[in-house]
Amino acid sequence: MTPSNMSLAAAPASANTSPDIAASQAQLKIEGLRRPAAAEWPTPYVEVDETRLARNMQAMQARADAAGLVMFPHVKTHKSIDLAKRQLALGARGITASKPSEALVFVQAGIPSIIVAYPIVNASSLDRLLPAVKAHGTQLRTIAASEMGVDALSTAAVRHGVDIGVFLKVDVGLGRVGLKPNDPAAIAVCQKIAAAPGLHFAGLLSHAGHSYAATDSENLAAVARTEAAAITGLAAMLKGLSIDVPCLSVGATPTCLGAPLQAVDCIRPGNYVFLDGTALRLGICSADDLALSVVARVVAANDTHFIIDAGSKTMSSDRGAHGMGGNGFGIVIGADAGSGAGVWTLERMSEEHGFVPAGGRTLPLGSRVRVFPNHSCATIANFDSFVLRRDEGEVLTLPVNARSCQT
Ligand SMILES: Cc1ncc(COP(=O)(O)O)c(C=O)c1O
Repeated sequence: MTPSNMSLAAAPASANTSPDIAASQAQLKIEGLRRPAAAEWPTPYVEVDETRLARNMQAMQARADAAGLVMFPHVKTHKSIDLAKRQLALGARGITASKPSEALVFVQAGIPSIIVAYPIVNASSLDRLLPAVKAHGTQLRTIAASEMGVDALSTAAVRHGVDIGVFLKVDVGLGRVGLKPNDPAAIAVCQKIAAAPGLHFAGLLSHAGHSYAATDSENLAAVARTEAAAITGLAAMLKGLSIDVPCLSVGATPTCLGAPLQAVDCIRPGNYVFLDGTALRLGICSADDLALSVVARVVAANDTHFIIDAGSKTMSSDRGAHGMGGNGFGIVIGADAGSGAGVWTLERMSEEHGFVPAGGRTLPLGSRVRVFPNHSCATIANFDSFVLRRDEGEVLTLPVNARSCQT
């Protein structure tokens, strides 16, 4: 096995593919990973390629526009005010955030409309966010999946004199947060939201994160169709009970990028801006689309491996979103001018070290590599800042503004 096809074990060619075709597909993929020599910066650092970033952002916005859907991209992917503003400039109507403290960073930056897509079950979780929402006149929507959640949101809304739109979170298959569409409690929670002081019913929201386990594009399309059918069916029932359903919101990069967009109102993809080894493995992007990589340095070598200065505190230990992933922790290529054509797999990590099986083709000590992570959202969240690399080679550093906003 050559170093090149070792790395391709994470994305095998189909069993029906002839060896010649498989070899040329592998070559194509390796070519797509090539990037200019990395900037001289202390390693390890995150590099975001501005051209690819812009292309990814524009492509998703264009998909949403063509389908008549509103974009509320999830900023947990980049946690960057600058990148959120680029998404708005392209046509996004607002953003989605994970937690109140993450949302607060973007409220203070003047983002006009925010969905906090996280189940809040105690009122005090909103005590810092709501005064800022009030001061900035931000439109705030969030989710509830329980009566306790509705009570907490209502208490907070009344306490701070803020009106909050609340979606019912519908579990369409991930099995994480939400009520099943056929659960009678779903209707009861919607009625409770509509009647609660300080709240209004915003509609239905789902996240088909289980799409990360899809095995092919038909599978992916089936997940998207099932998700849309589940929430449109529930919306029809609510309308039959005279409950207005203002918005149906779905969103996961695999279903938004790798399947036809469904007839809903709003999408909230996050990962699409950077993409990563997981998206590549799913077949929803090409190697040339990967906008984020980690530049690291070879700091040691032994008989079997070379060791790089990027371990789990740099890359994260994610094998992929929602713990669904392929082999290894990243795709490794040379990052110096004149680096050869080798491609390796980041096989395992300790906190500050990454183990790369050399496969008989080691890299010199001190040379640099570029690692395309399995899960770019989890990788950039380990950094205070990232390097944005422009086409002409100019680089600038941008802060990861909402880093470690976990409350
Ligand atoms: C509620 C919700 N919406 C949207 C997203 C965006 O998903 P992705 O990063 O796959 O696009 C996530 C990701 O975890 C999520 O939890």
